[in-house]
Amino acid sequence: MAWTSHPVQSLTGRVRAPGDKSCSHRALIFAALSEGTSEITGLLEGDDVMRTGKAMAALGADVEQVGPGHWRVTGVGKAGLTSAGTLDFGNSGTGSRLIMGAVTGYTVIAEFTGDESLRGRPMNRILKPLREMGLRDSAAEDGLLPFSLYAGDGIHGIDYTPPVASAQVKSAILLAGLNAQGTTIVREAKATRDHTERMLRGFGARVDVVTEPGGARTISIEGGQTLKAVQTSIPGDPSSAAFLAAAALISPDGNVLIENVMSNSTRDGFFDVLGAFGAQLGAEEAGEAAGERLIDIQVSSPGKLTGADVPERLVPAMIDEFPILAVVAAFAHGVTRVTGAEELRVKESDRIDAVIAMLRANGVTCEASSDGFTVEGCGGPPPGGGAVETRHDHRIAMSALVMGTAAQAPVSVDDVSMIATSYPDFLDHMASLGADIRDV
Ligand code: S3P
Repeated sequence: MAWTSHPVQSLTGRVRAPGDKSCSHRALIFAALSEGTSEITGLLEGDDVMRTGKAMAALGADVEQVGPGHWRVTGVGKAGLTSAGTLDFGNSGTGSRLIMGAVTGYTVIAEFTGDESLRGRPMNRILKPLREMGLRDSAAEDGLLPFSLYAGDGIHGIDYTPPVASAQVKSAILLAGLNAQGTTIVREAKATRDHTERMLRGFGARVDVVTEPGGARTISIEGGQTLKAVQTSIPGDPSSAAFLAAAALISPDGNVLIENVMSNSTRDGFFDVLGAFGAQLGAEEAGEAAGERLIDIQVSSPGKLTGADVPERLVPAMIDEFPILAVVAAFAHGVTRVTGAEELRVKESDRIDAVIAMLRANGVTCEASSDGFTVEGCGGPPPGGGAVETRHDHRIAMSALVMGTAAQAPVSVDDVSMIATSYPDFLDHMASLGADIRDV
């Protein structure tokens, strides 16, 4: 059903960022592998994460909700994961890919599948290293879901350099390595989000990380380690906070405090680029959660935003933020250029094409390239008035609705239901700040 975001004069208030999606998946997976019972608070209860919980339950863990965002997970420990029937991961690349790695070291047969978007996303990047470790599977040459995994004994460590910068590939290999014989090493030319390394340590595993002066990282894990249950809380999601920050920035009168946001250099790229655009962001320490630093971020609409080239080294640290960056760029003065971001072509949608279609539908001049895009800023509110095809992509839907809050004319999207995959409270949070987003 189509929803429309109408321009409003001001966006003000405070919002607590929802639990981080990446950390929520990992907390459930690691707790389900552990010995003992873990308590997790602040879990993101989006569709993607709920499917991860169901999958780990089907594989033998006990996963129960105790209260809102509060989950109790009794892991399989040394007994190991057991075979399951079909595991349906819905829209979730993270859940499906990390759990492919998690089952690899156990004697497990399971069928993996997902929705139309996930069934079109590349899995060979995960299958290739896992096969090198000893995994067998029924995947066709294109590697697309659905397929069955026949995991078993005799999995051994590998020394692997992923051809793409991907935390999902790294994490799948490290999870398989946890139960493999010998050492597993992943070498990253560019650092990707490091929640797997940090959280595995929190669950008692030894993970060694060596960072080179240029930023390359080598991560090693010794096989045969058993994780131990923890009590943990999930930090707020900087990728969800990005939508609120952008909405405050482009508003004629914006002033928003976003509380409890994880601050981690492998995730902060969007906020660095906003700084380069001339945005004034305030940050106050807000403690820590799951070994991550927390901050409260104050964002108010500045006098002037100026577009800029996005440094390629920041791409992995803002890989999910390009749709909302494109919206901010449309309001800025001057040109914003994104390069080195070809991974955007294989996200929940082809995000380069989807971003260009979203902006053009709203009167913004922009151009796609093979590995990014260029936006000519309007130096103020873009015309708006467009109907945006979300392509089942939650981040395209949220970006378009944020754009509508401050464009010259309302912006509509064809669907909002998939926003629940990552940010179920998005519409409520936006309404609490004063946004006027309605179904039509
Ligand atoms: C994620 C890693 C990223 C990101 C995704 C979540 C993760 O994907 O786009 O939303 O939790 O590891 P890639 O690692 O494939 O870039």
